[in-house]
Amino acid sequence: MIVGAQWGDEGKGKVTDLLAERADMVIRFQGGNNAGHTIVRDGETFKFHLIPSGILYPGKPCAIGNGVVLDPGVLIGEIEGLKGQGVDVSGLKISANAHLIMPYHLLLDTAGELRLGKLEIGTTRRGIGPAYADKASRLGIRVQDMLDPKILRQKIMAALEPKRQIFQELEVQRKRMRDEGVDTAGLDDLDARVDLHAMTEEYLTYGHQLEPYIADTSRLCWETLDRNATVLFEGAQGTMLDLDHGTYPFVTSSNPVAGAACVGAGVGPKDIDEVWGIAKAYSTRVGAGPFPTELTDDLGELLQQRGGEVGTTTGRSRRCGWLDLVALRYAVRLNGMTALALTKLDVLAGVGPIKVCTRYRHPDGAVFDDFPYHQSIIHSAEPEYEEVPGFDEEIGECRSLEELPLAARDYLDLIADRTGVPVALVGVGPGRDQIIWTRPPAI
Ligand code: GDP
Ligand code: IMO
Ligand code: MG
Repeated sequence: MIVGAQWGDEGKGKVTDLLAERADMVIRFQGGNNAGHTIVRDGETFKFHLIPSGILYPGKPCAIGNGVVLDPGVLIGEIEGLKGQGVDVSGLKISANAHLIMPYHLLLDTAGELRLGKLEIGTTRRGIGPAYADKASRLGIRVQDMLDPKILRQKIMAALEPKRQIFQELEVQRKRMRDEGVDTAGLDDLDARVDLHAMTEEYLTYGHQLEPYIADTSRLCWETLDRNATVLFEGAQGTMLDLDHGTYPFVTSSNPVAGAACVGAGVGPKDIDEVWGIAKAYSTRVGAGPFPTELTDDLGELLQQRGGEVGTTTGRSRRCGWLDLVALRYAVRLNGMTALALTKLDVLAGVGPIKVCTRYRHPDGAVFDDFPYHQSIIHSAEPEYEEVPGFDEEIGECRSLEELPLAARDYLDLIADRTGVPVALVGVGPGRDQIIWTRPPAI
């Protein structure tokens, strides 16, 4: 299993692509098209939002599990885009039980953010939170519902009903904002997004287009495991964005931690042998919320530029900072991590001495070696750093630990030592071959 060990965008797509070669099936188990997973292969760039990053292996079963929230229009666009790039998507499977993102979910996501104003979460505005909220309220609409006109219409009607008043209030809010000269993008096509008839027709068409891919993906996992073959679970987002364990409320609305894979794919916990946490050699975060090691100075900008830290999904600049070992140890614990894959080590070349946060200090003097459970402490935590020597050599061509500068090797040793898990793979560039295997997986 592959999970994000930080705030997302750690390079999960690239590692999934690498490990998928050895796996017999790949499955996404949570999140939706808030994810953006980039893979660079032979100089060509592929971006995935919903389709598992294993799809580049022709015919390999790649499933979107029941725990994912799925925007069918986006998925169809992604399928067409990949076909256009010459990718064989015949291995794609979509869980019949996955919940759908509906047009009104996007509307509610935007409206929620506008209501929060300066306190916004900085969501991707893809309707993720409202879709999961409807799922929990038992007002969700599932992939299988798109195959039955009567059921689809009834379910959309039931989902719209309790929201009518909210939509009316939104209409008033939109008019007021427009009068005040505030940007109302995302609210403008309000009527079309709550039109029962148009929506039913649109989603029936999607159902028709996606029908060949719809399957019982939990059973498919079981069948694969039953013949002693390997399933690779591809996480989205990251541990610090977890709905339960992240920096709530500045989190996503699903559980990116390893435990959620059992629910989101429909397998038992004993089927998980290895959990790899993917972490960058530094930290990034996109969207609002606490980020203790954030660098708001020139150095932060240097990391942002050297790392090309721009969100794949929203195009927003990612906030950058030093590696946070307090948060990373927390992620190791929460995910039962068996190894780390450390990406983007190349980005640290030439940035000078490297700092790592080893503990937090609260303004009242209290010191935290472990990630504090109290939210206000996280918000005011000051990182305490250890400084280690940096390296100036570009390392994009290195393919073994021995080829790395000594300071880079020492940095890797320090991370393994302080987290208690081995570093199994090191990323030295975006390309598929720009890796150093230090401990190949047992698959
Ligand atoms: P994901 O969401 O976890 O899959 O990560 P993203 O794809 O959103 O962001 C990671 C970015 O870093 C992508 O643009 C990758 O191509 C790139 N990347 C992955 N590994 C490395 C690496 O080792 N070095 C560098 N320089 N870039 C990398
Ligand atoms: P991948 O899979 C980084 C962030 C958003 C926002 C918060 C909530 O590419 O690592 P949401 O739209 O989910 O309700 O937004 O979560 N976020 C991500 N940040 N990588 C992601 O995915 C993210 N998916 C959501 O920026 O702060
Ligand atoms: Mg990403």
